[in-house]
Amino acid sequence: MTKILVTGATGAIGKSTIEHLLKKGVPSNQIIGFSRKKESLKDLAAKGVEIREGDYSDYNSLLHAFEGVDKVMLTSAVAFTDRFTQHYNIITAARQMGVKHIVYMSIMRKEGSGRIISEVTDSDRFTEQVLKSSGLDYTVLYHPPFADLLSFYYDSNPIENGIKVPANEGKMAPATRDELAEAHAEILSTPGHENKTYSLGGSYHISFSEIAKVLSEIKGQPVSFTTITAEEYIDGMIEKGVARHVAEFLTSWVMAIEGGEFEHQAGDLERLLGRKTKSFRDVLETFFV
Ligand SMILES: NC(=O)c1ccc[n+]([C@@H]2O[C@H](COP(=O)([O-])OP(=O)(O)OC[C@H]3O[C@@H](n4cnc5c(N)ncnc54)[C@H](OP(=O)(O)O)[C@@H]3O)[C@@H](O)[C@H]2O)c1
Repeated sequence: MTKILVTGATGAIGKSTIEHLLKKGVPSNQIIGFSRKKESLKDLAAKGVEIREGDYSDYNSLLHAFEGVDKVMLTSAVAFTDRFTQHYNIITAARQMGVKHIVYMSIMRKEGSGRIISEVTDSDRFTEQVLKSSGLDYTVLYHPPFADLLSFYYDSNPIENGIKVPANEGKMAPATRDELAEAHAEILSTPGHENKTYSLGGSYHISFSEIAKVLSEIKGQPVSFTTITAEEYIDGMIEKGVARHVAEFLTSWVMAIEGGEFEHQAGDLERLLGRKTKSFRDVLETFFV
C-alpha cells in the first residue's frame, strides 16, 4: 500500500491536492495531510485522511511525520521565510525515513533566463539541486502564476480603479490552484512520473492589458488599463497598506510576467488533466464576478 503525504494541507493547493486524490479513488487511509495546525484539518480527518502535525523548520517533527510514507508532495514554503532550510529539512528527513519519491512545486523559469525573483528563484534552484542529488525519485513541477490570485498584482476592485501595472503586453500562461492541484494528484496517484520535470503552463496566454479587456467584456463597461513605472506601482501599493518589501516582491513578479518568464506552454498540464485549462474569462467569472 503506497502512502502519500501532502504538505501544506491547510493551504489552498495542498488541501485541493488531497481532495483530488480522493476524487481519483485513492483510499483515504493511504493519504496523509501534513501541517502545523492539526485542528484545522478536521474536515479531512472526517473523510478518513490521516493528519500528521509538524513544521518544516522542526526536523524531528518531519522524521515522525514521514514514518511509513512512500511519496511526499512538497508544497513549497511561503516567501519571506527561510525556504532553503525548510525544503532542505524536508528532503533530508524524507531520505532518512525511507521515502521513495518527492514531488516539488517550483516556479516556472524561461529557458536560459538569468532573472531572479527574490524569495523564490534562488531557493527553488537550491531545492531542485538538493532533490536531484538526494538519490530519491523526484518530480519537479514548474508552476505558472496562479490564475485565481492574479488580482493581487493589480487591484481588488479593477472595475472601479482600472488596472495599473508596470507592464503592457507581456504574456503569461496562468493556471488555477485547483487545476495545478489536480495535476499534482494525477502525478501522485499514477506511475511513470519518476525523475521527470513538467512545465505546468495553462492552455491560454494572457497579458495584463488583455485582463482589462476581458473584464470590460464581462462587465459591459470600460475597464481602464495603464502602464505605470515600477516606482509608481510600489508607491501605489504602499498607499493601499502593502508593506514595501511585499510591494517590491509583487513588482518583480509583474516585471517577470512582462518579460515572458511564465509564458511557456509545454502541454504537460493539459496532458495531466486530460483537458484544456480554464480560459481567463472563465476564471474571472468563477472567482471575481
Ligand atoms: N505560482 C504562484 O503564483 C504562487 C503564488 C503564491 C504562492 N505560491 C507558492 O505556492 C505555495 C502554496 O500556495 P497556497 O496558495 O496553497 O498557500 P497557502 O494557502 O498560504 O498555504 C501554505 C501552506 O504551507 C504550510 N506551511 C507554511 N509554512 C509551513 C511550515 N513552516 N511548516 C509546515 N507547513 C507550513 C501552511 O500550513 P500551516 O500554516 O497550516 O502549518 C499552509 O498549509 C506557497 O507557499 C508559495 O510557495 C505560488
